Amino acid sequence: MTLWGRRQQCEVLDGLLAEVRAGRSRALVVRGAPGIGKTALLGYAAETAQDFQVARAEGIESEMELPFAALHQLCGRMLGRLDRLPGPQRDALGVAFGLWSGSAPERFLVGLAVLGLLSEVAADRPLLCLVDDAQWLDRASAQALAFAARRLLADPVALLFAARQCAPCRARSGLASPCRPGPAAG
Ligand SMILES: Nc1ncnc2c1ncn2[C@@H]1O[C@H](COP(=O)(O)OP(=O)(O)OP(=O)(O)O)[C@@H](O)[C@H]1O
Ligand SMILES: [Mg+2]
Repeated sequence: MTLWGRRQQCEVLDGLLAEVRAGRSRALVVRGAPGIGKTALLGYAAETAQDFQVARAEGIESEMELPFAALHQLCGRMLGRLDRLPGPQRDALGVAFGLWSGSAPERFLVGLAVLGLLSEVAADRPLLCLVDDAQWLDRASAQALAFAARRLLADPVALLFAARQCAPCRARSGLASPCRPGPAAG
């Protein structure tokens, strides 16, 4: 699909993917008004990243109260690697995803497990994680993804979020403040 008037944004995405190919993880939040073309930009990144593995998730408003729902979308196909994680992390993520029973997992361990899982998968080939409609992420998933985004360093992982920005936030133009604490990452 041809994107009109988005050369600058596409160049930023090209640069981000180049950094990740070189083994440096990157995270970016695409934020803007409804219909402005955020999903289209994620589509551009996916098309451009033909040499990447791509994992996807989207925030779903009706699932905002379901802890780890979005994370399950993103990591569901990575679970074959679960046994590579240290036991406590594997157990935490397994319980979070309902693979086995247990009391509510420690969020810190879930964050570490996500970090480990993304690194594991990216060891084969660079990994592009696309998280659309991040304004509707359940809080537990947003927390785990933000945790991982802050800590991935020398791993070929790109975390790309798209989130709507509410009108009051847009009015404070330039400040780019999130509408609620979310997966903002640098
Ligand atoms: N730069 C562009 N050039 C051409 N078409 C575009 C461009 N940006 C967006 N579109 C088209 O406009 C429509 C809305 O774009 P898109 O769904 O990406 O917006 P969005 O910001 O993700 O919206 P929402 O906030 O509802 O998720 C889509 O049909 C998309 O293909
Ligand atoms: Mg969209």
